[in-house]
Amino acid sequence: MDSSSPKPHAILVCYPLQGHVIPTIHLAIKLARKGFTITFINTQSTHTQITRKSGDGEEDIFSSVRGQDLDIRYITVSDGLPVNFDRSLNHDQFMACLLHVFSAHVEEALLKIVQSKVDPPVSCLIADSFFVFPGKLAKKYGLRYIAFWTETALVFTLYYHLHLLKLHGHFDCIGMREDPIDYIPGVKSIKPKDLMSYVQETDTTSVCHHIIFSAFQDVRNADFILCNTVQELEPETISALQIEKPFFAIGPIFPPEFATSGVATSMCSEYECTQWLDMQQQANVLYVSFGSYAHITKNDLIEIAYGLALSKVSFVWVLRPDIVSSDDPNPLPEDFKGEISGRGLIVPWCCQKQVLTHSAIGGFLTHCGWNSVLEAIWCGVPLLCFPLLTDQFTNRKLVVDDWKIGLNLCDKNPVSKFEISEKIQHLMFGEASDGYRNEMQKAKETLANASRGEGSSDKNLDSFISSVCK
Ligand code: UDX
Repeated sequence: MDSSSPKPHAILVCYPLQGHVIPTIHLAIKLARKGFTITFINTQSTHTQITRKSGDGEEDIFSSVRGQDLDIRYITVSDGLPVNFDRSLNHDQFMACLLHVFSAHVEEALLKIVQSKVDPPVSCLIADSFFVFPGKLAKKYGLRYIAFWTETALVFTLYYHLHLLKLHGHFDCIGMREDPIDYIPGVKSIKPKDLMSYVQETDTTSVCHHIIFSAFQDVRNADFILCNTVQELEPETISALQIEKPFFAIGPIFPPEFATSGVATSMCSEYECTQWLDMQQQANVLYVSFGSYAHITKNDLIEIAYGLALSKVSFVWVLRPDIVSSDDPNPLPEDFKGEISGRGLIVPWCCQKQVLTHSAIGGFLTHCGWNSVLEAIWCGVPLLCFPLLTDQFTNRKLVVDDWKIGLNLCDKNPVSKFEISEKIQHLMFGEASDGYRNEMQKAKETLANASRGEGSSDKNLDSFISSVCK
């Protein structure tokens, strides 16, 4: 940053879901390291979940990096619901608050900051692109709006061009076309089954649809878009988006020190897995996790459990208490634990990055959340894909069809324990296993190269900063 230009001060609003909280916290630190003043707006609920699990009652989740002379200020606001309200069980009510109520709380906080004549003065608003209000708010207060997109460029462009999908009969119409889509700029061809779940649905009146429609109208007002992807992973899509908007691929946003980065980002208590993993053979354990948000049907969960048992592979399984529903916190069959007799470790939540970096891990059965995909690539762990919701179907296409760093858990519906067991064996020890590992190694190098000094992500971040400071 040019020392004569005023220091940029960004208000950064974090989306209150785990998979967004993690990259947003890392973005705050990254920008602060580059000389930004950041005022980080967190919801009271996210704040409470992060600090409660560490038990230290911290006022500020950034306290551990304060010693590094970073100017990160921190405030919390309500998302419109009581702090301890079960947002997983009452998902639509929670989303409705984010759609209708949350912006009022953010605006109140923003106004207070702007009116208090802070130093340096606030120059921009950075907010998750899934919010429906930042473009309007930024305009009202004369700030630049920087949209932060935590998913892939491919998913961004598909949402951005929803009107084209509708026009061609691939979205929101009677008798939706089933042939591949080849008219989205920068996307060679994609099958309708690989679109995000919300785009595949025939009822488009849900609260999530409202959020997506409004958010992608609002994002058209963004001055810049920051995306947690890597230029070399999605070159054509990114180039096409750059014709529309200043679009910067700056991922992976997590710090290179990865597992040991000390900043609290987890909204649940992390169970220790290292001791158990230390006792396992190298590359012999399958890590199983379906992320922070999606639910799974009880039937599928039971098939997966018996598939794991049949496969005879050792595993660590993150089984969130709400994975089926918070109403059913113990969904596994009674006899399951007996069937796996010491071969598996089941925990409600863990430090995923720590688990993935452990040498005992040889594969990852994943829902294909974008953070999980990036983390697995960073660690060189091949993937077995079981997408459940939202962008995960589109991420699966990138992982399996384009990058060839993994395979599908099931090619047929409904899922069966026999196929699951076979696919697990295939990923971990099958003949094709080396192929996935080799491709994964290449992808890993791509990520490492992009993140080091003078790599594409580092350069893109610098070029974003010089554009903002102009
Ligand atoms: C959803 C979307 O599918 C995803 O693409 C989007 O970027 C965020 O929201 P989510 O279920 O949150 O996904 O999954 P993912 O993106 O993989 O993020 C989960 C995060 O939680 C990862 O960073 C992972 O390391 C962390 N995690 C998960 C843990 O730390 N411990 C766990 O036990 C499980």
